[in-house]
Amino acid sequence: MARVDAVIAQRLSSDVPLVSQISNYIISAGGKRLRPALLLLMSGALSYTSSHKYQLAAVVEFIHTATLLHDDVVDESTLRRGRPTANESFGNAASVLVGDFLYSRAFQMMVECGSMRVMSILAEATNVIAEGEVLQLMNMHDASLNEAAYLRVIRSKTAKLFEASARLAAVLAGSDEATEEACATYGQALGTAFQVIDDALDYEGDASRMGKNLGDDLREGKVTLPLIIAMQRANSEDAALIRQAIEQPDEMRLEQQLQSILGVIHRTEALQATHEAARRESERASAAIQALPHSIYKSALLQLSEQSVSRMA
Ligand code: IPE
Ligand code: IPE
Ligand code: MG
Ligand code: MG
Repeated sequence: MARVDAVIAQRLSSDVPLVSQISNYIISAGGKRLRPALLLLMSGALSYTSSHKYQLAAVVEFIHTATLLHDDVVDESTLRRGRPTANESFGNAASVLVGDFLYSRAFQMMVECGSMRVMSILAEATNVIAEGEVLQLMNMHDASLNEAAYLRVIRSKTAKLFEASARLAAVLAGSDEATEEACATYGQALGTAFQVIDDALDYEGDASRMGKNLGDDLREGKVTLPLIIAMQRANSEDAALIRQAIEQPDEMRLEQQLQSILGVIHRTEALQATHEAARRESERASAAIQALPHSIYKSALLQLSEQSVSRMA
């Protein structure tokens, strides 16, 4: 991971000072570096050692960071990684443009690997993430959204990059098709579990620990699994309350609405059910890599899927 961070630091440079300033601002704030860790662990599990893996691990982190820069503009978020977001500190225009810089820098770097397969996986992943974000935008304020539609969004906007990170390790290692698919399934399931938990944390987490604000999803009219389950299980009066908050959020009454909705979520045990859904995905992740040979890397991957459902940040 130190080598990945070295590649990241080296490739953030630009002759335009604002580019380096904003990209350093968000990257030096930390972040869990989960996607590069996944790529390196999967490479280890497949006994792949070449240094291309550090380059590609930095590429997936750049793509992730670019999506965050754009996402915080779209979501009008003010806090990320415990700091004011880039849009809050530097404005929307600068955030969008530096996001574009990071995307295109990532594409320059992946070309250097000289593999058409690698480029095709990352081009596809980036495109699907963008589609997922647009799909989610179309679904805003739609209280009739069901679990399948929710899953489609999160598989695109979040799980796809986890899937690509794991698949890239298999491609670099020259794995057979079945192994590549197993790795990809692990990444997809882990990424899905990860986003489901993120959506639970938006209602039950701790802002200082997460470095992001709570309640953002409701504020935006974004329908996530805790709300879908709560609406399914609630009596008609409680369900109507949630529906109204989704369809016509009232800026003035939002805090009050959030409190009543938290009550419904509690009564319907919607967060427990959300955690169970994440647990199923995490088990699907672990099952996918059962056939890989035993190694410390495989153990770490199993631990990662296990911990993804109990994370608090
Ligand atoms: C945030 O991802 C966006 C989601 C997919 C929920 P991370 O939680 O991996 O963000 P950092 O990189 O650790 O800040
Ligand atoms: C994060 O999505 C951005 C992508 C996955 C592309 P969210 O908007 O759900 O996550 P946070 O809460 O801002 O990190
Ligand atoms: Mg967001
Ligand atoms: Mg978003």
